[in-house]
Amino acid sequence: MSRSGALDLATGLGGKIKKNEVQSAVEQYEKYHVCFGGDDDTRKTNYSDMVNKYYDLATSFYEYGWGESFHFAHRWNGESLRESIKRHEHYLALQLGLKPGMKVLDVGCGIGGPLREIARFSSTSITALNNNEYQISRGTELNRLVGLGDSCDFVKADFMKMPFADNTYDAVYAIEATCHAPDVVGCYKEIYRVLKPGQCFAAYEWCMTDNFDPNNETHQRIKAEIELGNGLPDIRSTNQCLEAVKLAGFEIISEKDLAADSPVPWYLPLDGSRFSLTSFRLTSIGRFITRTMVKTLEFVRLAPAGSARVSSFLETAAEGLVEGGRKEIFTPMYFFLAQKPL
Ligand SMILES: C[S@@+](CC[C@H](N)C(=O)[O-])C[C@H]1O[C@@H](n2cnc3c(N)ncnc32)[C@H](O)[C@@H]1O
Repeated sequence: MSRSGALDLATGLGGKIKKNEVQSAVEQYEKYHVCFGGDDDTRKTNYSDMVNKYYDLATSFYEYGWGESFHFAHRWNGESLRESIKRHEHYLALQLGLKPGMKVLDVGCGIGGPLREIARFSSTSITALNNNEYQISRGTELNRLVGLGDSCDFVKADFMKMPFADNTYDAVYAIEATCHAPDVVGCYKEIYRVLKPGQCFAAYEWCMTDNFDPNNETHQRIKAEIELGNGLPDIRSTNQCLEAVKLAGFEIISEKDLAADSPVPWYLPLDGSRFSLTSFRLTSIGRFITRTMVKTLEFVRLAPAGSARVSSFLETAAEGLVEGGRKEIFTPMYFFLAQKPL
């Protein structure tokens, strides 16, 4: 099952990067970002290297702290984080009208948490696309363990140039993944190409909201922290996203920022000022323990050199995300459902 022990965190850290190269990978990764003197043009040109380094370095932390699905969720009062994550996935399946027998594509699938939930919920067969080899190896193992090894598969490829024929899929979804695209119109055009005419694409996008002021230094700092902590080239506005969906050729069926009416704020699990036993590892005490543990594991050489620095930029991300959420300048759940015309 999910690798969520401290030793799993230590051994998975660095993903497919050689253990003695983790430190220099962290340094190269940091240099892409504004907080370390980088700029968005360099991040866009080198998106593949930047994003792959990020997920090699961060995936075991995600599994340790968050679980198998690497996304936030709209959440009702009384609902646990895990329940809300599953419901967020079911919502996407229902909006897409998934039915048994449909051939579905998951764009930017992580280690396949959403895929396993959606495939079992809708009895569909899902192909999961990901450019990160380490995540694919984890996802393949987890699919096999739950018995989805034959009906669902992973393909290692870049979502900017997918290795699929035109008009292949009955439905496509992307959960908090296409925010990594260096050119979102190009990415949506690829999705449009592989989708059958008349069929739908649904996504949860990471966006800056209308409250974001590009001339406000605090807003810009928060945006830069989120980019650094999450391997992003340049976070787009909700309007830019919507325009891109239309430019790619889709017709919009519905669109909405689901964060706007989430009774429990999506960023609450990361908020250092609250306490939760069920997601203890995400609380400030839990994060302090993780930080100390990673430093110790690095010191005794059970975790590679550079591990504590990964933990540190992920902390920066958490702080940026909470601040961006509180100020309502950022959302990780700008939802849209779009159709490829017949
Ligand atoms: C935040 S994770 C979300 C993963 C998954 N959708 C989930 O919710 O668990 C973003 C994912 O997008 C993938 N990704 C980023 N850029 C990609 C690219 N150019 N081509 C394919 N996958 C990409 C990453 O490797 C990662 O798996």
